[in-house]
Amino acid sequence: MNYNKKTVRDIDVSGKKVLLRCDFNVPQDKETGEITSDKRIVAALPTIRYLLEHNAAVIACSHLGKPKNGPDPKLSLAPVAKRLSELLGQEVIFAADVVGEDARAKAAALQPGQILLLENTRFEKGETKNDPALAKALASMAEVYVSDAFGAVHRAHASTAGVADYLPAVSGFLIQKELEFLGGAIASPKRPLVAILGGSKVSSKIGVINNLLEIADTIIIGGGMAYTFSAAQGGKVGNSLLEADWMDYSRDMIEKARAKGVKLLLPVDTVCADAFAPDARSQVVKAGEIPDGWEGLDIGPETVKLYCDAVADAGTVIWNGPMGVFEFPAFAKGTEAVAEALSKTSAITIIGGGDSAAAVEQLGYADKMTHISTGGGASLEFLEGKELPGVACLLDA
Ligand code: 3PG
Repeated sequence: MNYNKKTVRDIDVSGKKVLLRCDFNVPQDKETGEITSDKRIVAALPTIRYLLEHNAAVIACSHLGKPKNGPDPKLSLAPVAKRLSELLGQEVIFAADVVGEDARAKAAALQPGQILLLENTRFEKGETKNDPALAKALASMAEVYVSDAFGAVHRAHASTAGVADYLPAVSGFLIQKELEFLGGAIASPKRPLVAILGGSKVSSKIGVINNLLEIADTIIIGGGMAYTFSAAQGGKVGNSLLEADWMDYSRDMIEKARAKGVKLLLPVDTVCADAFAPDARSQVVKAGEIPDGWEGLDIGPETVKLYCDAVADAGTVIWNGPMGVFEFPAFAKGTEAVAEALSKTSAITIIGGGDSAAAVEQLGYADKMTHISTGGGASLEFLEGKELPGVACLLDA
């Protein structure tokens, strides 16, 4: 995939209506609807400010949640319009629909330097079906399409990809930065390239492991998925997470890594607990020797040392997925040690979105990383080497 795309700087936006796709899919309190993290709104500000300062009339749009049957007041973007307006220090005009009468009238009246936010794009059924009629209707309100919704570039939807069939399409600064760091790490990494993969399931990381086996020098496995690898080698894993159907695959991966000369590091010890609870009794045992009735919840101290040493000598480190149940402080030590090692290495450090980004932020190491991706599913598909429709549709530089 070509990661070298035209950006807002390569196109004249002055006096033009610009349709800007953002990822305003923010977390909200289930009871009150209050936005619990405005990080995604803040991440869109540089592009929005650039467009407004360059005299564009900005028609912003985004999805929020997964509405199934049209408009759902709980998933309205109205709270986002309010927060965006506070952050920008100017009015954000809000449309009560996506391509309906209100949106069209407000878009038509919009002046350079003003910003309008459309209602949740998924209130239109055609959005997730990438319906050309919806893409065309969105495009008809603007003259230029800018995408800055990195978190949604793995979706081939009307507002993330389809609309680019009808308008010149370029990236905003957020997508540009994601392509530069994630793309750079995949296409021409500073070596050795060390990939740290964690999280609960082997099955959700197959694509990533497969792709990284072709690219990485070292692959480190932690988190719940390590127990499937352990069981695949005849280890005892007690009550630990286990995907029995993926044991053959795990064995194949170990073989493939050996054949390719890729170093595959697996845990050598485990912190196991007598229950899945923050205050469970715990003990450290050798990997593959977890007693019956116990379950692995973190990597052990020997493994921490092994993994941190591998990170210290790296040129680039990509991290996707925690090493243990970091939500429980007693079982966060492995994840914390790896985060600390990443904060100290001189390597380029890239954190995939989702859980790993949350872990790095929760543990206070966020400002020590080279790049933390804003995309969960999107950064995973990026690491799988898949073509991302929301990137492929943008004009090549
Ligand atoms: C995300 O939160 O990962 C993106 O906004 C994509 O959301 P989706 O999984 O609902 O498409």
